[in-house]
Amino acid sequence: MRVVVLAGGISDEREISQASGANVATALTEAGYGVVDMMDPADENFLSELSQGEYDAAFIALHGLGGEDGMIQSVLEYLHIPYTGSGVTASACAADKDISKVLYEHAGIPIAKGVVVERGDAVDADELAEQLGGEMFVKPAVNGSSYGVSCVKSPSELDGALEVAFEHGDKALVEQRLVGTEITVGVYEGEELVALPVVEIRKQEGSEFYDLNVKYIDPKLVHRIPAQLDPNDYARAQELACAAHRALGCSGFSRSDFIVTHDGPVILETNTIPGMTDTSLYPDEVRHAGMKFSEVCDRLVELALE
Ligand code: DAL
Ligand code: MG
Repeated sequence: MRVVVLAGGISDEREISQASGANVATALTEAGYGVVDMMDPADENFLSELSQGEYDAAFIALHGLGGEDGMIQSVLEYLHIPYTGSGVTASACAADKDISKVLYEHAGIPIAKGVVVERGDAVDADELAEQLGGEMFVKPAVNGSSYGVSCVKSPSELDGALEVAFEHGDKALVEQRLVGTEITVGVYEGEELVALPVVEIRKQEGSEFYDLNVKYIDPKLVHRIPAQLDPNDYARAQELACAAHRALGCSGFSRSDFIVTHDGPVILETNTIPGMTDTSLYPDEVRHAGMKFSEVCDRLVELALE
Protein backbone atom coordinates (compact mmCIF):
# COMPACT_ATOMS: atom_id res chain seq x y z
CA MET A 1 0.00 0.00 0.00
CA ARG A 2 1.41 3.36 -1.05
CA VAL A 3 0.10 6.36 0.84
CA VAL A 4 1.09 9.96 0.36
CA VAL A 5 0.62 12.39 3.24
CA LEU A 6 -0.05 15.90 1.98
CA ALA A 7 1.26 18.57 4.33
CA GLY A 8 2.50 22.15 4.24
CA GLY A 9 0.54 23.96 1.55
CA ILE A 10 -0.18 27.60 0.86
CA SER A 11 -2.28 28.70 3.84
CA ASP A 12 -1.45 30.64 7.00
CA GLU A 13 -1.61 27.29 8.78
CA ARG A 14 1.32 25.84 6.83
CA GLU A 15 3.50 25.17 9.85
CA ILE A 16 0.71 23.49 11.80
CA SER A 17 0.05 21.34 8.75
CA GLN A 18 3.68 20.27 8.55
CA ALA A 19 3.50 19.11 12.17
CA SER A 20 0.15 17.40 11.56
CA GLY A 21 1.57 15.63 8.50
CA ALA A 22 4.67 14.39 10.33
CA ASN A 23 2.51 13.00 13.14
CA VAL A 24 0.14 11.30 10.70
CA ALA A 25 3.04 9.79 8.71
CA THR A 26 4.48 8.30 11.90
CA ALA A 27 1.06 6.92 12.84
CA LEU A 28 0.53 5.33 9.41
CA THR A 29 3.96 3.67 9.53
CA GLU A 30 3.06 2.39 13.00
CA ALA A 31 -0.21 1.06 11.59
CA GLY A 32 1.79 -1.01 9.08
CA TYR A 33 1.57 0.99 5.85
CA GLY A 34 4.53 0.10 3.62
CA VAL A 35 5.23 3.28 1.71
CA VAL A 36 4.37 6.54 3.42
CA ASP A 37 5.67 9.53 1.48
CA MET A 38 5.15 13.16 2.37
CA MET A 39 4.49 15.82 -0.25
CA ASP A 40 3.92 19.54 -0.08
CA PRO A 41 1.41 21.04 -2.54
CA ALA A 42 3.40 24.28 -2.39
CA ASP A 43 6.39 22.58 -4.08
CA GLU A 44 6.97 23.41 -7.72
CA ASN A 45 6.86 19.83 -9.01
CA PHE A 46 4.03 18.74 -6.77
CA LEU A 47 1.45 17.94 -9.46
CA SER A 48 3.77 15.94 -11.69
CA GLU A 49 5.22 13.98 -8.77
CA LEU A 50 1.79 13.27 -7.34
CA SER A 51 0.41 12.05 -10.65
CA GLN A 52 3.44 9.82 -11.25
CA GLY A 53 3.59 8.43 -7.73
CA GLU A 54 1.12 5.56 -8.22
CA TYR A 55 -0.37 6.14 -4.80
CA ASP A 56 -3.24 4.02 -3.50
CA ALA A 57 -4.46 6.85 -1.26
CA ALA A 58 -3.67 10.35 -0.08
CA PHE A 59 -3.94 11.42 3.54
CA ILE A 60 -4.70 15.14 3.51
CA ALA A 61 -3.07 16.77 6.53
CA LEU A 62 -3.49 20.30 5.17
CA HIS A 63 -5.34 23.08 6.97
CA GLY A 64 -7.07 26.16 5.66
CA LEU A 65 -6.86 27.67 2.18
CA GLY A 66 -6.06 25.23 -0.62
CA GLY A 67 -6.16 22.17 1.63
CA GLU A 68 -9.31 22.21 3.74
CA ASP A 69 -11.58 24.04 1.31
CA GLY A 70 -12.11 21.60 -1.56
CA MET A 71 -9.20 22.73 -3.73
CA ILE A 72 -6.81 19.81 -3.18
CA GLN A 73 -9.79 17.45 -3.00
CA SER A 74 -10.68 18.43 -6.60
CA VAL A 75 -7.13 17.76 -7.77
CA LEU A 76 -7.24 14.31 -6.20
CA GLU A 77 -10.61 13.61 -7.82
CA TYR A 78 -9.10 14.41 -11.23
CA LEU A 79 -6.14 12.14 -10.56
CA HIS A 80 -8.40 9.31 -9.28
CA ILE A 81 -6.50 9.13 -6.00
CA PRO A 82 -8.75 8.24 -3.04
CA TYR A 83 -8.28 10.69 -0.17
CA THR A 84 -9.12 10.94 3.51
CA GLY A 85 -11.86 13.10 5.00
CA SER A 86 -14.51 15.20 3.38
CA GLY A 87 -15.17 15.61 -0.33
CA VAL A 88 -15.07 18.75 -2.46
CA THR A 89 -18.49 20.21 -1.65
CA ALA A 90 -18.49 19.52 2.09
CA SER A 91 -14.96 20.93 2.39
CA ALA A 92 -15.93 24.09 0.52
CA CYS A 93 -19.12 24.59 2.56
CA ALA A 94 -17.35 24.06 5.89
CA ALA A 95 -14.51 26.40 4.94
CA ASP A 96 -16.91 29.30 4.39
CA LYS A 97 -18.42 30.29 7.75
CA ASP A 98 -21.18 32.21 6.01
CA ILE A 99 -22.34 29.15 4.05
CA SER A 100 -21.86 26.75 6.95
CA LYS A 101 -24.07 28.91 9.19
CA VAL A 102 -26.88 28.60 6.65
CA LEU A 103 -26.52 24.81 6.66
CA TYR A 104 -26.29 24.63 10.47
CA GLU A 105 -29.42 26.73 10.83
CA HIS A 106 -31.25 24.56 8.34
CA ALA A 107 -30.34 21.53 10.48
CA GLY A 108 -31.54 23.22 13.70
CA ILE A 109 -28.04 23.76 15.12
CA PRO A 110 -27.84 26.97 17.20
CA ILE A 111 -25.65 29.68 15.61
CA ALA A 112 -24.43 33.10 16.74
CA LYS A 113 -26.39 36.13 15.64
CA GLY A 114 -24.40 38.02 13.03
CA VAL A 115 -24.10 39.65 9.64
CA VAL A 116 -21.89 39.12 6.62
CA VAL A 117 -19.88 42.12 5.43
CA GLU A 118 -18.20 42.16 2.05
CA ARG A 119 -15.25 44.37 1.20
CA GLY A 120 -16.59 47.79 0.19
CA ASP A 121 -19.95 47.43 2.02
CA ALA A 122 -21.04 50.46 4.04
CA VAL A 123 -21.34 49.48 7.69
CA ASP A 124 -23.07 51.41 10.46
CA ALA A 125 -21.03 50.35 13.47
CA ASP A 126 -23.41 51.78 16.10
CA GLU A 127 -26.43 50.12 14.55
CA LEU A 128 -24.61 46.80 14.33
CA ALA A 129 -23.49 46.99 17.95
CA GLU A 130 -27.07 47.63 19.00
CA GLN A 131 -28.39 44.80 16.83
CA LEU A 132 -25.76 42.33 18.10
CA GLY A 133 -25.89 43.33 21.73
CA GLY A 134 -22.70 45.34 22.30
CA GLU A 135 -19.40 43.50 22.02
CA MET A 136 -18.75 41.77 18.72
CA PHE A 137 -16.38 39.34 17.08
CA VAL A 138 -15.09 40.03 13.60
CA LYS A 139 -13.63 37.17 11.59
CA PRO A 140 -12.73 36.38 8.00
CA ALA A 141 -15.44 34.14 6.51
CA VAL A 142 -12.79 31.78 5.22
CA ASN A 143 -9.83 30.96 7.45
CA GLY A 144 -8.71 28.94 10.42
CA SER A 145 -6.70 28.96 13.60
CA SER A 146 -8.02 32.40 14.63
CA TYR A 147 -6.06 34.31 11.96
CA GLY A 148 -7.63 37.73 11.36
CA VAL A 149 -10.11 37.44 14.26
CA SER A 150 -10.70 40.42 16.55
CA CYS A 151 -12.90 41.17 19.51
CA VAL A 152 -14.58 44.57 19.13
CA LYS A 153 -15.52 46.21 22.42
CA SER A 154 -16.70 49.52 21.09
CA PRO A 155 -18.24 50.43 17.69
CA SER A 156 -15.27 52.72 16.96
CA GLU A 157 -13.05 49.62 16.71
CA LEU A 158 -15.16 47.94 14.03
CA ASP A 159 -13.55 49.47 10.92
CA GLY A 160 -10.08 48.47 12.07
CA ALA A 161 -11.21 44.94 12.86
CA LEU A 162 -12.83 44.60 9.43
CA GLU A 163 -9.62 45.77 7.78
CA VAL A 164 -7.72 43.03 9.61
CA ALA A 165 -10.30 40.43 8.56
CA PHE A 166 -10.18 41.59 4.93
CA GLU A 167 -6.45 40.87 4.85
CA HIS A 168 -7.58 37.24 4.66
CA GLY A 169 -10.37 37.50 2.08
CA ASP A 170 -13.22 39.60 0.70
CA LYS A 171 -15.93 38.42 3.10
CA ALA A 172 -16.10 38.86 6.87
CA LEU A 173 -18.52 37.92 9.61
CA VAL A 174 -19.51 40.29 12.39
CA GLU A 175 -21.10 38.32 15.20
CA GLN A 176 -22.47 38.83 18.67
CA ARG A 177 -19.91 38.05 21.36
CA LEU A 178 -21.15 34.87 22.98
CA VAL A 179 -20.51 34.53 26.68
CA GLY A 180 -19.73 31.08 27.98
CA THR A 181 -17.28 28.22 27.94
CA GLU A 182 -15.43 27.43 24.72
CA ILE A 183 -15.37 23.75 23.88
CA THR A 184 -14.54 21.57 20.92
CA VAL A 185 -15.86 18.14 19.95
CA GLY A 186 -14.36 15.75 17.42
CA VAL A 187 -16.37 13.13 15.59
CA TYR A 188 -15.16 9.98 13.98
CA GLU A 189 -16.74 7.51 11.57
CA GLY A 190 -16.14 4.12 13.14
CA GLU A 191 -18.85 1.53 12.55
CA GLU A 192 -21.13 4.53 12.95
CA LEU A 193 -20.58 8.24 13.51
CA VAL A 194 -19.42 8.77 17.10
CA ALA A 195 -18.60 11.89 19.07
CA LEU A 196 -15.30 11.94 20.98
CA PRO A 197 -14.89 13.33 24.51
CA VAL A 198 -15.54 17.08 24.78
CA VAL A 199 -12.52 19.32 25.41
CA GLU A 200 -12.85 22.56 27.30
CA ILE A 201 -10.58 25.33 26.14
CA ARG A 202 -9.54 27.54 28.98
CA LYS A 203 -8.53 31.07 28.21
CA GLN A 204 -5.13 32.22 29.35
CA GLU A 205 -5.12 35.18 31.64
CA GLY A 206 -5.09 38.35 29.54
CA SER A 207 -6.31 36.59 26.41
CA GLU A 208 -9.64 37.66 24.92
CA PHE A 209 -10.33 34.32 23.35
CA TYR A 210 -8.64 31.10 22.34
CA ASP A 211 -6.21 32.90 20.08
CA LEU A 212 -3.14 31.73 18.24
CA ASN A 213 -0.77 32.32 21.12
CA VAL A 214 -2.85 30.07 23.30
CA LYS A 215 -3.57 27.51 20.61
CA TYR A 216 -0.04 26.34 20.10
CA ILE A 217 1.54 26.51 23.50
CA ASP A 218 1.51 23.61 25.93
CA PRO A 219 -2.04 22.31 25.56
CA LYS A 220 -2.12 20.91 29.08
CA LEU A 221 -2.16 24.46 30.37
CA VAL A 222 -5.22 25.37 28.39
CA HIS A 223 -7.25 22.20 27.74
CA ARG A 224 -9.46 20.31 30.12
CA ILE A 225 -10.62 16.93 28.97
CA PRO A 226 -13.28 15.86 29.58
CA ALA A 227 -14.83 19.33 29.81
CA GLN A 228 -16.45 20.19 33.14
CA LEU A 229 -19.95 20.91 31.88
CA ASP A 230 -23.48 20.29 32.93
CA PRO A 231 -24.18 16.71 31.71
CA ASN A 232 -27.01 17.97 29.49
CA ASP A 233 -24.73 20.49 27.78
CA TYR A 234 -22.04 17.83 27.40
CA ALA A 235 -24.39 15.39 25.70
CA ARG A 236 -25.97 18.14 23.60
CA ALA A 237 -22.54 19.29 22.36
CA GLN A 238 -21.70 15.76 21.24
CA GLU A 239 -25.06 15.46 19.52
CA LEU A 240 -24.58 18.82 17.77
CA ALA A 241 -21.04 17.92 16.61
CA CYS A 242 -22.49 14.86 14.86
CA ALA A 243 -25.35 16.98 13.47
CA ALA A 244 -22.88 19.57 12.11
CA HIS A 245 -20.78 16.83 10.46
CA ARG A 246 -23.93 15.53 8.75
CA ALA A 247 -25.35 18.97 7.88
CA LEU A 248 -22.20 19.87 5.97
CA GLY A 249 -21.97 16.44 4.35
CA CYS A 250 -18.57 15.67 5.92
CA SER A 251 -16.83 12.31 5.74
CA GLY A 252 -14.43 10.44 8.01
CA PHE A 253 -13.81 12.95 10.74
CA SER A 254 -14.31 16.56 11.76
CA ARG A 255 -14.12 18.72 14.86
CA SER A 256 -16.65 21.40 15.70
CA ASP A 257 -16.08 24.34 18.03
CA PHE A 258 -18.82 25.73 20.30
CA ILE A 259 -19.47 28.23 23.06
CA VAL A 260 -21.63 26.79 25.82
CA THR A 261 -23.93 29.66 26.74
CA HIS A 262 -26.71 29.81 29.36
CA ASP A 263 -28.98 28.46 26.64
CA GLY A 264 -26.68 25.58 25.72
CA PRO A 265 -23.99 25.07 23.07
CA VAL A 266 -23.84 27.45 20.08
CA ILE A 267 -21.67 26.38 17.15
CA LEU A 268 -18.76 28.48 15.90
CA GLU A 269 -17.31 26.35 13.11
CA THR A 270 -16.47 22.88 11.87
CA ASN A 271 -12.90 21.96 11.01
CA THR A 272 -12.96 19.28 8.33
CA ILE A 273 -9.24 18.64 8.82
CA PRO A 274 -8.59 19.36 12.48
CA GLY A 275 -5.04 19.84 13.73
CA MET A 276 -3.36 16.44 13.98
CA THR A 277 -0.11 17.36 15.73
CA ASP A 278 0.88 15.38 18.77
CA THR A 279 -0.45 18.14 21.04
CA SER A 280 -3.59 18.98 19.00
CA LEU A 281 -7.12 18.73 20.32
CA TYR A 282 -8.40 15.96 18.04
CA PRO A 283 -5.60 13.45 18.82
CA ASP A 284 -6.08 14.28 22.50
CA GLU A 285 -9.77 13.42 22.25
CA VAL A 286 -8.90 10.20 20.43
CA ARG A 287 -6.57 9.14 23.24
CA HIS A 288 -9.18 9.98 25.87
CA ALA A 289 -11.71 7.87 24.01
CA GLY A 290 -9.34 4.94 24.60
CA MET A 291 -8.30 4.64 20.96
CA LYS A 292 -4.89 4.86 19.39
CA PHE A 293 -4.20 7.74 17.03
CA SER A 294 -2.67 5.25 14.55
CA GLU A 295 -5.92 3.25 14.62
CA VAL A 296 -7.91 6.35 13.65
CA CYS A 297 -5.50 7.31 10.85
CA ASP A 298 -5.70 3.74 9.56
CA ARG A 299 -9.51 3.86 9.60
CA LEU A 300 -9.53 7.16 7.70
CA VAL A 301 -7.46 5.61 4.92
CA GLU A 302 -9.71 2.54 4.95
CA LEU A 303 -12.76 4.81 4.54
CA ALA A 304 -11.04 6.64 1.68
CA LEU A 305 -10.61 3.33 -0.13
CA GLU A 306 -14.25 2.21 0.32
N1 DAL B 1 -7.46 24.81 12.14
C1 DAL B 1 -6.68 24.11 13.12
C2 DAL B 1 -5.65 23.27 12.51
C3 DAL B 1 -7.60 23.37 14.08
O1 DAL B 1 -8.71 23.79 14.20
O2 DAL B 1 -7.18 22.40 14.69
MG1 MG C 1 -10.71 26.20 13.00
